Amino acid sequence: MKNVFSVFLVLLSVLGVSAQEFQSPNGAFKMSFSLGNDGTPMYQLFLNNKEVIKKSKLGLELQKDKKSLLNDFKVVDTKQSTFNETWQTVWGEETKIQNHYNELMVKLKQNETDREIIVRFRLFNEGLGFRYEFPEQKNLIYFVIKEERTEFAMTGNHTAFWIPGDYDTQEYDYTESKLSEIRSLFKSAVSENASQKQFSDTGVQTSLMMKSADGIYINIHEAALINYSCMHLNLDDKNFVFQSHLTPDAKGNKGHIQAPSVSPWRTIIVSKDAREVLASRMTLNLNEPCKIENTSWIKPVKYVGVWWEMITGKSSWAYTEDFPAIQLGVTDYSKAKQSAKHAANTKHVKEYIDFAALHGFDGVLVEGWNEGWEDWFGHEKDYVFDFISAYPDFDVKGIHEYAKSKGIKMIMHHETSGATRNYERHLDKAFQFMKDNGYDAVKTGYVGNILPLGEHHYSQSILNHYQYVTEKAAEYKIMVNAHEAVRPTGICRTYPNMIGNEAARGTEFQAFGGSKANHTTVLPFTRLMGGPMDYTPGIFEMDIAKLNPGNNSHCNTTIANQLGLYVVMYSPLQMAADLPENYNRFLDAFQFIKDVPVDWSTSKYLEAEPGYYITTARKDKNSNNWFVGNVNGLNKRTSTISLDFLEKGKKYEATIYADANDAHYKTNPQAYKITKQKVTSKTKLQLTTAAGGGYGISIVEVK
Ligand code: NOJ
Ligand code: CA
Repeated sequence: MKNVFSVFLVLLSVLGVSAQEFQSPNGAFKMSFSLGNDGTPMYQLFLNNKEVIKKSKLGLELQKDKKSLLNDFKVVDTKQSTFNETWQTVWGEETKIQNHYNELMVKLKQNETDREIIVRFRLFNEGLGFRYEFPEQKNLIYFVIKEERTEFAMTGNHTAFWIPGDYDTQEYDYTESKLSEIRSLFKSAVSENASQKQFSDTGVQTSLMMKSADGIYINIHEAALINYSCMHLNLDDKNFVFQSHLTPDAKGNKGHIQAPSVSPWRTIIVSKDAREVLASRMTLNLNEPCKIENTSWIKPVKYVGVWWEMITGKSSWAYTEDFPAIQLGVTDYSKAKQSAKHAANTKHVKEYIDFAALHGFDGVLVEGWNEGWEDWFGHEKDYVFDFISAYPDFDVKGIHEYAKSKGIKMIMHHETSGATRNYERHLDKAFQFMKDNGYDAVKTGYVGNILPLGEHHYSQSILNHYQYVTEKAAEYKIMVNAHEAVRPTGICRTYPNMIGNEAARGTEFQAFGGSKANHTTVLPFTRLMGGPMDYTPGIFEMDIAKLNPGNNSHCNTTIANQLGLYVVMYSPLQMAADLPENYNRFLDAFQFIKDVPVDWSTSKYLEAEPGYYITTARKDKNSNNWFVGNVNGLNKRTSTISLDFLEKGKKYEATIYADANDAHYKTNPQAYKITKQKVTSKTKLQLTTAAGGGYGISIVEVK
């Protein structure tokens, strides 16, 4: 039947009628491919026969190439196929994921140049993925991309949850607006960052979340971004058409390609129900299966760290205030006076290890342990760190032994300060140093402008750097959590040692002036579509001046909201980010953080509306216990959920950590109440969530 279909398509194209249609496995989606009069490839997407993406052009503009890969194409071959398999995750929101799609391969030949490209479309039950492929051929070997010309033509003036398009950072608050309002709101949506470069006042980043006037949710992103540059979207706000906009390199080029190769997948997830967007595994499914043979060393981690005290300004990364600048190997730290603020000292680190051991955490992260922090950023310095020279007050061996005796894993920190070549030069030694001292996980960081200068955080060659680090780490059996690197695109399926990524506005910004109180109701629809985030939740003291009188920031969240994050913001790497002394003040609420797992067998999305609320339930991978998390937006709300996901006939006890009735993220963030009740699959709950609030529920089976 399928072959007959292919023959039919070929016939059509030979006849010059080059429109081809195919459907998703459940029939809900229909896609049509066609060529314009001038041979421009185009696609169009329908959900339940309703257009969701209008006819949109496909193609690439090449440098120094009059013809480019834009038009003058004919269809020379097509093939339709079906794929359906279920694969096992190493860690994740569930243990098994179904990868089910129908595929249409369209081979195009450019009349004048004889060059061939393939556009491969995959329709899943939740949307479309497509990519360009450049087969091996005589007339297209090396080429330089001037711009990818993929269009995403919207059907109207949708509501979007967007952050400014930027070649260097995603650390922005989201703005909710109509597409037509992006231009006028753009400037106010840009906040300061150590490295940033916007390109257009209608430029936005992916993953982009939208909602149409008739309630259709549309999410645009990319999958398997490897050896290509990161895609942004530039909006033609008269016609509501997004154009792909790739991140340039130092020369302004947007990609150096050698055939045979493929582009990343462009993804469009669409649903009438926002919960289905969160439930989609399309991004992971469009990535290659795991390439690491033995994954037994890859383990989800719950950790604390010598971190928040530096972020708030209470403590410092730098060892001394004596030197205005340092040169590695030249500056003699033994002559310097230790600053009273230096947190990464052996005694203090041991206190964190004790705290972690007492409360059942897996790991302790320590930042500011290595020489170089005195002038680590803002100077575009190349040889900024060597990743093996510890400060005089940080006893690497002693700490390792102490941690080991307490069953705690130390987590290494490698801030590169954007000096990518310097990091590559030191990488082997740095990883060997980690292994010699019992470290299995590293948090990397890329604060400041990228070196080599002119390259961007999201340029092709810098993405290749992050990929190189991930693969090199896998060789050393090291897990990676990269900060300020490119936002993920599901590569953690292929390299599950990539257990964390920041690449968005994380909790640190609560101490840099604060984030919008509904920020975490947007992130799962945007940043988390590509993979887990090291958001670093768990802040209990919202008034930062209490930690550092010089910092007037306020965390715009309630304690109950912070608990909800551990379930809503899925990550195999979860931090309890606040100081031990703040947890000791609220040990009853801290119990939820201690109990909540970091690995799950299944997940259910109970309520969801981007910008407003999300409620998620997940089942522990290692028991029959369930955990529910809710994060709420700017207005007080009642969350109504049914516990029908619990196993029928079983009895459970629920401990509910909720906002007190008078809680509010700004005026009363620490007001929570903890209640216990017996529940079954028949139980329904109604819980009031504060502005910027939320809740966490642990549901433990009673035998
Ligand atoms: C920014 C990272 O996001 C943060 O977690 C880290 O502490 C600092 N850079 C210093 O490396
Ligand atoms: Ca950061």
